[in-house]
Amino acid sequence: AAVVEHTFIVSQVKMTHLCNETLVTLVNGQFPGPAIEVTDGDSVTVHVVNKSPYDLTIHWHGVKQQLNCWADGVPMITQCPILPNHNFTYKFNVAGQEGTLWWHAHVAFLQATVHGALVIRPRHGASSYPFPKPHKEIPIILGEWWQMDLERADWGIAHGVDLYFGASTINGKLGDLYNCSGSIEDGYVLDVEPGKTYLLRVINAALFAEYYLKIAGHKFTVVASDANYVTPYTTDVIAIAPGETMDALVVADAAPGRYYMVALPNQSPEPDPQSPVLITRGIVQYRRVQAPAGDTPVSPEMPDQDDLMPSLHFHANLTGLLHHPHQPTPVPTQVDERLFITLGLGTVCRRGHSCKRSQSNETFTVATMNNISFQQPAVATPLLKLHYHNTNRMDMLLQELPDKAPRVFNYTDPALIPPGPKEAKLEPTSKAALARRFRHGTVVEVVFQGTALLQSESNPMHLHGHDVFVLAQGEGNYDAARDVARYNLVNPAIKNTVHVPRLGWVAIRFVADNPGIWYMHCHFGFHLTMGMVALFIVEDGLTTDTSLPAPPADFPSCRHI
Ligand code: C2O
Repeated sequence: AAVVEHTFIVSQVKMTHLCNETLVTLVNGQFPGPAIEVTDGDSVTVHVVNKSPYDLTIHWHGVKQQLNCWADGVPMITQCPILPNHNFTYKFNVAGQEGTLWWHAHVAFLQATVHGALVIRPRHGASSYPFPKPHKEIPIILGEWWQMDLERADWGIAHGVDLYFGASTINGKLGDLYNCSGSIEDGYVLDVEPGKTYLLRVINAALFAEYYLKIAGHKFTVVASDANYVTPYTTDVIAIAPGETMDALVVADAAPGRYYMVALPNQSPEPDPQSPVLITRGIVQYRRVQAPAGDTPVSPEMPDQDDLMPSLHFHANLTGLLHHPHQPTPVPTQVDERLFITLGLGTVCRRGHSCKRSQSNETFTVATMNNISFQQPAVATPLLKLHYHNTNRMDMLLQELPDKAPRVFNYTDPALIPPGPKEAKLEPTSKAALARRFRHGTVVEVVFQGTALLQSESNPMHLHGHDVFVLAQGEGNYDAARDVARYNLVNPAIKNTVHVPRLGWVAIRFVADNPGIWYMHCHFGFHLTMGMVALFIVEDGLTTDTSLPAPPADFPSCRHI
């Protein structure tokens, strides 16, 4: 096994898109940032040099970090942030995982531009893929280009200010549909050789949008998701929510020519009124094809932007690949703890207001789990340190995530969808440092129930430090008496980010066997900022090889609060 070393210099760089020059925070001046390519079993060392004006951390999204929660990169949970003009070196191993993951800043909104691919190849080389060896492997990172200052946007979310994003991107390129974005060739171009097979490693690094991805005249065969193999599934459209990855084979078997690759966001914030396009496109171009001047590439027919059914079907069709050495089957059948978590919105009182007359300008909207919104506890020490030193001070800071919603109602009743000013119908809620403790080895089942309070969004729920079995999903209200029978306990997909369908639910199971404090949150940037977060605390086991080791010696120290 090798040591793979990178230096990430984080700094602000001017970029011009949509006719405007914008200051953006990038790693090594690249958008998207550098790809990390490793082999299963390697150690990774990344020196982060923070030359930006922001406090930041880098999270290795989907890396299990077994016995290494310290490297998980969540500010004030696992570490103090890296302050401006400070450095920190992350060290971790990738073991027992292969496929596509990614890395991103875990500071709200720096993630929009501070991200990149993390590709883990099999120990025995590409010939051990459980699918035909591809001619080439290509990361496809879907993202967003924001017109507005994201630091202000982050503040704005908590203060009811409207957000505008500028454009969607494929590998950082806007394509030819936007003002000032130039010609087709300025968009992302994938050159292919006729008859060859390509492995696209698709990552959704966007803050807001779930994407539909299509290539005119071509089909995808999805072979992996979130660095776990899936039963090969052939489809003409990929649906990918923020945080998810999809590995898909594409065979260049169409008539040699040029074909659009289109990414359409199926739920997203308001486009900038100056540039109201949402879609982005690049091209797949057959080599040695002399395109006649003025010849337009073939366009795919896209699903309707408001139609979330293709996404529900796509996700429900993913199953785990059996008989692969990395597949941790069988699914545990004995469940120790069950949680039913409703995802919603609520209102809290602004500081300094009484909110007695429920004036909507005295409240603001927060995102919730079981009607409580996460609030970072005000301590100047990362919680993982308090946990490691076993101080009971930590427990005083936390509130237990209830195992079900405070009241039962028709969660998906469209009548709940708040018309007009949304605060009007939302109920008052509270903020707390929500957490749930698990004994080492606990088998946990979670049902995430989407609610109409969310204005009909779907939610990508992401768990750090563990992969989960996706047992079933459906529309409407979860009903154990009916839905348990539908659980796939044979070959469920294994994921770190699960798609909770709009007005629907998903049931997952996982073994809490990685000691530490793990973020569990919605991967929509705004839901994270708004508090759709809880901490899963996994206690040490009885032996040293099931206990959290000491923190790295050179850990950053915190700013005083
Ligand atoms: Cu990719 Cu906590 O996130």
